[in-house]
Amino acid sequence: MAENKKLLRALAGEVLDTPPIWMMRQAGRYLPEYRATREQAGDFLSLCYTPDLAAEVTLQPIRRYGFDAAILFADILLVPQALGADLWFVTGEGPRLSTITQQPDFDALKPVDAIHETLSPVYETVRILSRELPSETTLIGFAGAPWTVATYMIAGRGTPDQGPAHALREENTALFEALLDRITAATIEYLSAQIEAGAEVVKVFDSWAGSLKGEAFTKYAVEPCRIITQALKERHPGIPVIGFPREAGEGYVGFAKATGFDCVALDNSVAPEWAAEHVQVDGCVQGNLASSHMVTGGQALVDETRRILRAFSKGPHIFNLGHGITPDADPENVQLMIDTVRGG
Ligand code: CP3
Repeated sequence: MAENKKLLRALAGEVLDTPPIWMMRQAGRYLPEYRATREQAGDFLSLCYTPDLAAEVTLQPIRRYGFDAAILFADILLVPQALGADLWFVTGEGPRLSTITQQPDFDALKPVDAIHETLSPVYETVRILSRELPSETTLIGFAGAPWTVATYMIAGRGTPDQGPAHALREENTALFEALLDRITAATIEYLSAQIEAGAEVVKVFDSWAGSLKGEAFTKYAVEPCRIITQALKERHPGIPVIGFPREAGEGYVGFAKATGFDCVALDNSVAPEWAAEHVQVDGCVQGNLASSHMVTGGQALVDETRRILRAFSKGPHIFNLGHGITPDADPENVQLMIDTVRGG
């Protein structure tokens, strides 16, 4: 392993004096240079599918801040699109997709091996990045977890409570599970292709894991992630995998062991002291500063950053936010967070 890649060292279990740092949605609308490139691309999906521009926005936060990792610029909803769903983004509202609620909707989806036709520009972005990133910066690829991706495919949009997906899993379990299996298989191929193109770590985002409770959490959050991790480990031994079961609460306990993830990303609804005792005991954790501090800044940002550093100082830790940075964040506050982590 490259000695100068701090992110890989933390993922291998090393306890570093200064943890590596990167930020969810680090390429995003809070940065003027991102807004300019997005404007040049025309719309968000064109930005995702134009390798030179997607690589450019991935590099922007690395140039500005020198983060220890770059995350590929793409979106979790490209997989549904590659499986044949219609996908578009409504400005100011978010994603819209054709819905899957009946058997014929599912039957119209493409087979897993067709996804590369749509997704090959993403692999090209990864290849550009692995050439252009500084040698100390780790390249992270990613995909959505099957449950989270399914919630968008079923409802056709983001929903506050994932109601349509819960309804389908109760009313037509067979269809729901067939959809989950298709997404799981596609995700394995997609992440494998990213690794083959040069991704050094991959992350699985289960943004809506918290709405699955009890046995449903085990079946639909843990199990698909375990299948993905196992397949990736077989094909690409040594490539670390980060899992993010957002708002899993007590579900974070034992999650790394149950899924095979090398690192669990924590949202900011869990106290770092609690997570150090109950989650970091099993290995590396990532997180978990509330992204609201990137808007409000000041002494509270510094205090909370130091609290998180202290709480996780005895085990492997990657500093990050608890969720993505928001468009109203102040770029100066990002610098303040980094300075605090790196020795302020
Ligand atoms: O910098 C990075 O983190 C890498 C790129 C990235 C994006 N989306 C770019 C993006 C990553 C890793 C994602 C993941 C993603 N996408 C998730 C999981 C993480 C999470 O936030 O919970 C989810 C649920 C999505 C789906 C999605 N994409 C939604 C709901 C939205 C609309 C909400 C919003 O923030 O506008 C998007 C759009 C999106 N994806 C943007 C970016 C930078 C904003 C698009 C724009 O420029 O207008």
